Amino acid sequence: MPSASRFDLEIDRRDSWSTKWNRYGDRDVLPFWVADMDFRAPDCVLDAVRTRLDHGVLGYTQIPAPLTEAFRAWLQRGYGWQVPKEWLVWLPGVVTGLNLSAMAAATPQGSVLIPTPVYYPFLAVPNNAQQQPIHVGMQRSGERWVIDFDAMGKAVKPHTRLIMISNPQNPTGRAYSRAELTELAAFAERHDLIICSDEIHCSLILDDKTVHTPIASLSEVVAKRTITLFAATKTYNIPGLSCAVAVIPDAKLRMRFKAARRDLVPGIGPLAFAASAAAFNDQSDWVPSLVAYLRGNHARLAEVAGLRMTPVEATYLAWIDVSDLGLDDPAAYFEQHGLGLSDGRPFAGPGFVRFNFGCPRAQLERGLERLEKALQVRGEHAQGR
Ligand SMILES: Cc1ncc(COP(=O)(O)O)c(C=O)c1O
Repeated sequence: MPSASRFDLEIDRRDSWSTKWNRYGDRDVLPFWVADMDFRAPDCVLDAVRTRLDHGVLGYTQIPAPLTEAFRAWLQRGYGWQVPKEWLVWLPGVVTGLNLSAMAAATPQGSVLIPTPVYYPFLAVPNNAQQQPIHVGMQRSGERWVIDFDAMGKAVKPHTRLIMISNPQNPTGRAYSRAELTELAAFAERHDLIICSDEIHCSLILDDKTVHTPIASLSEVVAKRTITLFAATKTYNIPGLSCAVAVIPDAKLRMRFKAARRDLVPGIGPLAFAASAAAFNDQSDWVPSLVAYLRGNHARLAEVAGLRMTPVEATYLAWIDVSDLGLDDPAAYFEQHGLGLSDGRPFAGPGFVRFNFGCPRAQLERGLERLEKALQVRGEHAQGR
């Protein structure tokens, strides 16, 4: 019997107004959709929030200097990337940063290039910034999804100003290699594009042959045209404590990004600051143990009979191809079988569903039983048996 892991603990979340768990009301649907794990955050983070709470006054708060230092040290430890504090713009969320990036880059008749499928809020960004969207489908290359540079070269326009990527990639689970990022940076250079790189999943690398490279760390030239977005919220499972940071080396671009905030973007709360500072300071076994547990969950998911998915190199999200099942509404079909999955269509990935396996193993097993059944029933139907 393997010894119990802290990640095995099942916590009832329905009484906490959980977005993930309360979506389906009283229906017997197990949620594996939104990118929110079911694990308790580590004590170092919870203790930091408690300490801040015990102060008793929770007023408007400046960016705490210890948070800035914790983040800079984290970047240096993880990626050998040294950034001065002037380059940082703190935000109440990565999605806010995606939108501000497009506003900062926007020009009349401008457009935004986006490899798809992608985390669906990316797809609303061009319109929010009054720019034209240009979606370019990623390609399957063997067991991996890759950026289609030929198609991007054909799609890019003279007025395209920005390319937006998710790295590691939600939903395909790709962690782009250094070679791919170098090619992407050269593409951006050739077409004079700003790069907005969402690296929120960078600590969740499941493939032991893969390392995460922040694209801006490739060279100073690349850094100058890049806005990189980070947050501790996915890795430490505190997405409800909204806090993120943009790293923007170029002073003019940073000024435009800050100007785009106007009075539309709220400040960050003191509890969120405290939690993120503790997370960036963490050097305990939290990340390696979490990654090991997620690898185990990924292996179990990959064993499901009849499942078509590419291996997840990073994130806790699997991108499952259900196009052969002939379903008009895949998410609705899986819900009928008691599974709450994300439909691929909002990600510009019709025929796919996304499965979040960031949960205790016992819960995963209950979900996998349902998944296997749902695939089997439909598979037989599709074969006309
Ligand atoms: C790639 C990616 N970016 C951003 C977010 C959300 O970030 P935030 O809650 O900080 O806006 C998510 C959450 O699922 C994500 O997967």
